[in-house]
Amino acid sequence: MSPNTHISLFFFLSISLPVLSSPYFSPPTFLPNYQNMLKSFKIFTYTPPQPLVFSTPAESLFFSSLMNSSYLTQDPEQAHLFFVPFSSATPTRSLSRLVNALRTDLPFWNRTLGADHFYVSCDGIGFNSDRNLVELKKNSVQISCFPTQRSSFVPHKDVTLPPLADPHHAPVINETKNYLGYVKYGAVKKSSLVNELRDDQDFLVERQPSDVLTCEWRLSVSKFCLLEYGDGDISGISDAVRFGCVPVVITDRPIQDLPLMDVLRWQEIAVFVRWENKSGGGSGGAKRLRHVLDRTYGDEKRYEEVRGSCVTAGQHFVWNEEPQPLDAFHLMMYQLWLRRHTIRYARSEVA
Ligand SMILES: *[C@@H]1O[C@H](CO)[C@@H](O)[C@H](O)[C@H]1NC(C)=O
Ligand SMILES: *[C@@H]1O[C@H](CO)[C@@H](O)[C@H](O)[C@H]1NC(C)=O
Ligand SMILES: *[C@@H]1O[C@H](CO)[C@@H](O)[C@H](O)[C@H]1NC(C)=O
Ligand SMILES: *[C@@H]1O[C@H](CO)[C@@H](O)[C@H](O)[C@H]1NC(C)=O
Repeated sequence: MSPNTHISLFFFLSISLPVLSSPYFSPPTFLPNYQNMLKSFKIFTYTPPQPLVFSTPAESLFFSSLMNSSYLTQDPEQAHLFFVPFSSATPTRSLSRLVNALRTDLPFWNRTLGADHFYVSCDGIGFNSDRNLVELKKNSVQISCFPTQRSSFVPHKDVTLPPLADPHHAPVINETKNYLGYVKYGAVKKSSLVNELRDDQDFLVERQPSDVLTCEWRLSVSKFCLLEYGDGDISGISDAVRFGCVPVVITDRPIQDLPLMDVLRWQEIAVFVRWENKSGGGSGGAKRLRHVLDRTYGDEKRYEEVRGSCVTAGQHFVWNEEPQPLDAFHLMMYQLWLRRHTIRYARSEVA
C-alpha cells in the first residue's frame, strides 16, 4: 500500500453476538404500540395561512397523507400533538410571525413552548436568534429529509423522512447473489474506490442502470450495496433495504439522522464503514472494504439473517399514495407517537 494512502476504513458499530435477527429495537412491543397508535393518536392542525407548496415529493406526500388521515382531530384538547403547517420556501420573518401568532392567539404553544408541536421542512430550520424560531427549532419536532444539513437536525427530537423509492415493484428476494457488491456511482463519488472496485469481478460498478427494472435486478443479485453518506446521494438506501441488498454506508462521521432510527436497529440492516478521508486517493480501499465485509458477514448464515432483517424492515420504507399498514407514512406517525409525552405547564406557570 502506498504511504500516501490516507484512507482508513474501519467498522465502528459493534455487532454483539449472539445476534438477534430482528430489525426492531423492541420486537414484542412494536406491534402492540403501533396498534395502540392507530386507535388513539390525535393531531390538531393549525390552519395554514395560504395553500401550501412543498419542495419535495416526500414532504407533499407526508402532508397529504396526514391531512387525509384519521389521526386528525378538530378538538385541540384531545390532541397529543399539534401540527404547524407552512410552505417550504417560507421566509424566516414570516415563520417567526406565524409562531408568534400561535403563541399569542391560542393557549397551546405556551403550555410546552412548542414541544408538543411538529412541522415538516425538508431543509430544516437553521440557527436564528429570533425567539419564535429558537423555540420552533429547539423544542418542536422537525420532520426533514434524509440526509439532513448538519446544523439543522437535533438528535433525539427530530426525525427524517425515508427517501422516496423508485416505483414499487415487489422485491425479488430469493435470487442468487452473483455479486458481492453493487455500486451505482453518482451514488458513490469516491472515484479512487470506485475505480478499484471496477477492476474487481465481484463488484458490479456502473453509472446508471438503463431502467428501474434493471436497477432492481441489480439490487436483487448483489449482496451489498455501497452508498455514501454526506455529499453523496444516499437516497438509494430505501430500495437497497427493500430488495435485500444490505447497505454499506461509507461515512466520515457518526450518523444521527437515519430514517426510522427509533424503531429500527440499523446495525442489523446495514454496515457502516468509516472512511476517514473523503478526498483521499491511494490504493487498498477495495481490499480493506472486502476485509470489513468478510470479517463481519463472511459467515453465510449471519449474512442471511441480516438480509432477512433488511427485507422485513423494507416494508417501512415504502411510500404509498394511499397509506398502507406499516408503510413509511404510518412509521413516521409512529415516531411522532413515541414523542407525544411532553410536560404541559398550567397557563399560570408560564404567564
Ligand atoms: C383520502 O382517503 C380516502 C379514503 O380514506 C380516499 O378514497 C381518497 O382518495 C383520499 N384522498 C387523497 C387526496 O389521498
Ligand atoms: C404566552 O406567553 C406570552 C409570554 O411569553 C404572552 O405574551 C402570551 O400572551 C401568552 N399567550 C397566551 C395565549 O396567553
Ligand atoms: C424466486 O421466487 C419466484 C416466485 O416465488 C420464482 O418464480 C422464482 O423462480 C424464484 N427464483 C429462484 C432463483 O429461486
Ligand atoms: C486527505 O487526502 C488528501 C489527498 O490524499 C490529502 O492532501 C489531505 O491532507 C487529506 N486530509 C486529511 C484531513 O487527512
